[in-house]
Amino acid sequence: MRTTPATRQFTDDSLPDEVLYDILDDARFGPNGGNRQPWHVIVVRDQERKEQIADLWDLGMREDHAFYDAGLVPFVAAEAYWRNPPGGPSEQPVDLETARVTPRQEGRAPMAEAASKVPVVLLICVDLRKVTAMDSGLGRLSISAGGSAYPFCHNILLAARDRGYGGVVTTQLVRQEAAVKACMGIPDEFVLAAAIPLGKPVKEITKLRRDPVEAFATVDHFSGPAFIR
Ligand SMILES: Cc1cc2nc3c(=O)[nH]c(=O)nc-3n(C[C@H](O)[C@H](O)[C@H](O)COP(=O)(O)O)c2cc1C
Repeated sequence: MRTTPATRQFTDDSLPDEVLYDILDDARFGPNGGNRQPWHVIVVRDQERKEQIADLWDLGMREDHAFYDAGLVPFVAAEAYWRNPPGGPSEQPVDLETARVTPRQEGRAPMAEAASKVPVVLLICVDLRKVTAMDSGLGRLSISAGGSAYPFCHNILLAARDRGYGGVVTTQLVRQEAAVKACMGIPDEFVLAAAIPLGKPVKEITKLRRDPVEAFATVDHFSGPAFIR
């Protein structure tokens, strides 16, 4: 956990199917609601498909970057509920249409480009019929259902790290979910939870930056004293 970073730069080394199988074979032990194991993983190796994914990824990144350019947290969850009324138009604080149709001069964004070059991109799909949104109807964005997908995703990174490989859990591609579903034949009941490029990291990172425990844990009350040893 301490030495598994977000890896976004990869060497040209391959990731053999046997190794990838073992990675998924470990990752499947992730916790998930009701042990219904709602995931379906598409192992994307085909170059043409990776190029399609990279193009769509770039569109998602343009939207993401439009927020950063405006000094905002992209699609901030605190506002997601009221900004996206069901059946109504989405009200975003930045012009996403303009962002999507404005390509970067240098071509696809580095992360999108990397997706076309890595040995494999995993598309983590989730069967909505199998996940519980325990926090639905609370007048805010529902977040619980994702908890049945992301521990599995992190397990993939941990299992890859154990074998000398790396990757990153990403959601930028999810902005183009409809196109990804059409392109990859993903059934209606499934959603795209994440895309994980996997390969050999260009450099091994062993130190991650995180806040200390006492910065986020308190005793007996949210405003209680910092939890210390
Ligand atoms: C739910 C989730 C979504 C993420 N989405 C993206 C993404 O779309 N693109 C990306 O490059 N990284 C993405 N990340 C990776 C984070 O940026 C990364 O985990 C964080 O910055 C910590 O990096 P580190 O472990 O190398 O310190 C995502 C991570 C999570 C858990």
